[in-house]
Amino acid sequence: AQPINLENEPILGYLKGSEERVGLENALQHRQSAVEEIPIVIDGKEYWTDDVHYQTMPSNHQKKIAKFCYATPELLQKAIGVSLKARSTWEKVPLNKKVDIFLKAGDLVSTKYRSQLNASTMLGQGKTVFQAEIDAACELADFLRFNAEFAQRLYDYQPVNVDPSIKNSVRHRGLEGFIAAISPFNFTAIGGNLAYAPAIMGNVVLWKPSDTAMLSNYIVFRLMEESGIPPGVVNFLPAEGPTFGRAITNSTHLSAINFTGSVPTFHWLWKQVGENVDRFRNLPRLVGECGGKNYHLVHSSANVEHVVNSTLRGAFEYSGQKCSATSRLYVPSSLWKQVKEGLIEGMKQMKIGPVTDFDSFTSSVIDTRAYDRITSYIKHAEQSPDLQIIAGGQRNKSVGYFIHPTLVETNNPRDRIMVEEIFGPVLTAFVYDDSALEETLDLIDSSTSFALTGAVFAEDREFLVQAAERLKMSCGNFYINDKSTGAVVGQQPFGGGRLSGTNDKAGSPHYLLRWTSPQSIKQYF
Ligand code: ALA
Repeated sequence: AQPINLENEPILGYLKGSEERVGLENALQHRQSAVEEIPIVIDGKEYWTDDVHYQTMPSNHQKKIAKFCYATPELLQKAIGVSLKARSTWEKVPLNKKVDIFLKAGDLVSTKYRSQLNASTMLGQGKTVFQAEIDAACELADFLRFNAEFAQRLYDYQPVNVDPSIKNSVRHRGLEGFIAAISPFNFTAIGGNLAYAPAIMGNVVLWKPSDTAMLSNYIVFRLMEESGIPPGVVNFLPAEGPTFGRAITNSTHLSAINFTGSVPTFHWLWKQVGENVDRFRNLPRLVGECGGKNYHLVHSSANVEHVVNSTLRGAFEYSGQKCSATSRLYVPSSLWKQVKEGLIEGMKQMKIGPVTDFDSFTSSVIDTRAYDRITSYIKHAEQSPDLQIIAGGQRNKSVGYFIHPTLVETNNPRDRIMVEEIFGPVLTAFVYDDSALEETLDLIDSSTSFALTGAVFAEDREFLVQAAERLKMSCGNFYINDKSTGAVVGQQPFGGGRLSGTNDKAGSPHYLLRWTSPQSIKQYF
């Protein structure tokens, strides 16, 4: 195995006049002055169809940045055939060659393509510079490098040999067939990970990127090609969701689905696989991450300033569009006045503006569907006697899909605003009686079906131990005195249970285990 430096990619500051700032400003300008024409790519060849779509800027929706077309069922069939052919050669490429490709890709992300990745993520997915940097530059480079390391570690594992006349070994094989990767808009890095983590384990992939992350994902695809991924190993397939879903689940050769997105879509895919279960050559593995209803629990011993800062960031960075975003806040009545004032003050100071303004704290939400969904929760808060909007609530979609960070207080902790995923900048607080701690722990665990991330803020160690135990199953990523967002590749393996997904822990060796079909060999001398 070759030694790999496991330091996370450093976050650059983009201060005025810095080299990275100049590079990024040029890339932003370039990307706003042209509409990139994005093909379907199968086996390295480009295809175009009549089913044309555009990616527009969410903070200025009249502005197009990319044109693409949906793959037809025939093209999807072709991609399946091509990937199966590519599999036979790709699988034979030794791991050290694959590792070289991934390390080169990591370097291209952190150098040559950094500005392009950030600019396309800012403009296309509505991220501020900092949010783009931690995603499209850092997290993406980290996934590529750490997956190379984790693949080596898995390959290094060998079973025990006790009898000198017997040699036991394990060899890793890619799954037999193809893998379908269906990725979300909210992280460029997740697209890269869903499509390429399976590839390093010897698999071939049909990648359906999100329509609203098309440009950044296409740049990822091209830079992976430049790094040496052979044609046909990953095929780039913009497509209508159900058309893609049916094409993959109707194929005998589907070996896995690697999905991040909504619960209804994942359930639909699961049912499609169930419908077709008799025809598969191998039972497909379904790996999915489906969002959350993430909480911050504040204890009376907590540091209020830290709670306020962490909650503002957890709830409102990227307008609450991280699957890990904080959306439930539980505060004891003894601290509520201070916490509330801190939040209101912080929200007043947040600048909500275009992504090209480097001072914006956050920008718009992703599209009109998201705008309408989030707005419906704000309207619900405006109308319900159990809910009160404390701050925010303003929205306007005339230029971009802007929704102000919104703080709601409820006296009903089981209202749907505290139960359903909103995926937007709406945080709801429930004030509990200081003496009702146990009931509050039970409430947090039982009032929603999601279990992705959660955080507890306290200085009281005894309470932290109690909370950690009682909330054990309430999330896959548990934070003590830190916000519910911001898992770092390799440091906090990411994923949750219950409705939040299959908890296969992206950014860890566990994740790569899903993409290998090991063979045990016993040799008798
Ligand atoms: N890594 C992202 C976070 O934890 C998803 O916020």
